[in-house]
Amino acid sequence: MFIAFEGLDGSGGTTQIALYQAALQAAGHTVCRTREPSDGPVGKLIREELAGGVIGDDVFGMLFAADRRDHLDRVVNPALARGEVVLTDRYFLSSLAYQSQALGLDRVWSLNAEFPAATAVVMLDLPPEACLRRVEARGAVRDRFETLDQLQRIAAAYEAAILRCRARGDRIIRIDASGTPDDVHQRVRGAVWPR
Ligand code: TYD
Repeated sequence: MFIAFEGLDGSGGTTQIALYQAALQAAGHTVCRTREPSDGPVGKLIREELAGGVIGDDVFGMLFAADRRDHLDRVVNPALARGEVVLTDRYFLSSLAYQSQALGLDRVWSLNAEFPAATAVVMLDLPPEACLRRVEARGAVRDRFETLDQLQRIAAAYEAAILRCRARGDRIIRIDASGTPDDVHQRVRGAVWPR
């Protein structure tokens, strides 16, 4: 079981993945919780670049794909082979939404063509304005994608990417991410596995 959490910055993915992990563990599952950009060498480079880098958009798109290959090889596939439930905070849908801004969906699609679909994708739906309020409330330094204008564009790109992924059969579950963390968690548990 390989479940990816997706959504705009501020949509609550990191909180929800932690709550879902705890629920699965309480039900007796062994969970591997991970994220992209990964904690491997390519993921570290990407995080530095997100904070203000010099790498061009096309190479940046390739780096996300390289990090994804490394993440699958070193973390995700070994955990799946051990029979664990893998929860990842972001997967290729993030590239399709974020990198398509600069590269177009077709280019990002081809960069990510080799990656297997997750068993399910949990898409946390929250309007860009609400996401930005949450990001601002965190008080963290904004990365290169965290302005309202950018979030609106990325939200539209997520819609296009979701249509394309669903057309080939990917399972994408849309969750209303408004309300308290526990409200959203109950929606996730009601919609994803195990019910
Ligand atoms: P994020 O999950 O927000 O990490 P953190 O909460 O630790 O800052 O991810 C960092 C940023 O990376 C986020 O703005 C989305 C972006 N991103 C892409 O542009 N493409 C991708 O393929 C992935 C996985 C993330």
